[in-house]
Amino acid sequence: MKPLFAPSILSADFTRLGEQIAAAVAAGADWLHIDVMDGHFVPNLTLGTAIVVAARRATDRPLDVHLMVQHPEPLLEAFARAGADLLTVHVEATPHIHRALQQIHALGCKAGVALNPGTPAEAVFPVLHLADLVLVMSVNPGFSGQAFLPEVLPKVRALRSRLDEQHPKARLEIDGGINAQTLPQARAAGADVFVAASAIFHHPEGIAAGLAALQKAAA
Ligand code: DX5
Ligand code: ZN
Repeated sequence: MKPLFAPSILSADFTRLGEQIAAAVAAGADWLHIDVMDGHFVPNLTLGTAIVVAARRATDRPLDVHLMVQHPEPLLEAFARAGADLLTVHVEATPHIHRALQQIHALGCKAGVALNPGTPAEAVFPVLHLADLVLVMSVNPGFSGQAFLPEVLPKVRALRSRLDEQHPKARLEIDGGINAQTLPQARAAGADVFVAASAIFHHPEGIAAGLAALQKAAA
């Protein structure tokens, strides 16, 4: 599958968010990744629906909203209304992942399921048919700028082969520590959507150079 790039605005300059989104889109961002953290499921508090509304006004690229939120169900409708195209929930965050994915579809969004580094691939096997996207975390979620964890690569391979057998239309996204050095390993393992925050928004030569380096690494 054609690789897709999803810059995470978590490392953007929020005083210039519209400009930074425009720069990422002009550089070839396929999706925009928006990291929502609740201070409970992960030890950080970040973005809410207001930023999704603002991003929706800044671009018509798909908004890939990553909910790092304990018990996300009551928030799904608000994020759908805010303009999310894809809503991803963590398998660890609810005992009712099956129902949460159904709810996301009922709201008219694509549905993603995410796994933390310590969660085995098998945890999502029962719901793969409901997922448009599987997101493998390659850092412990909470912060951008952390180092890639290569021990998640066997899990990426396991999910790739399971999806190829059972649900080949689903995307396999990797998130955390992706840069020009780590991306080729994730791609070889079968990931086809690459999230990056610091490698794009903190690239010393700017956003376009950061995205171009990742595109080159995937080619
Ligand atoms: C981490 C978030 C990531 C993060 C990635 O908890 O889910 O999307 O922004 O940041 P980098 O690319 O800097 O590792
Ligand atoms: Zn994320």
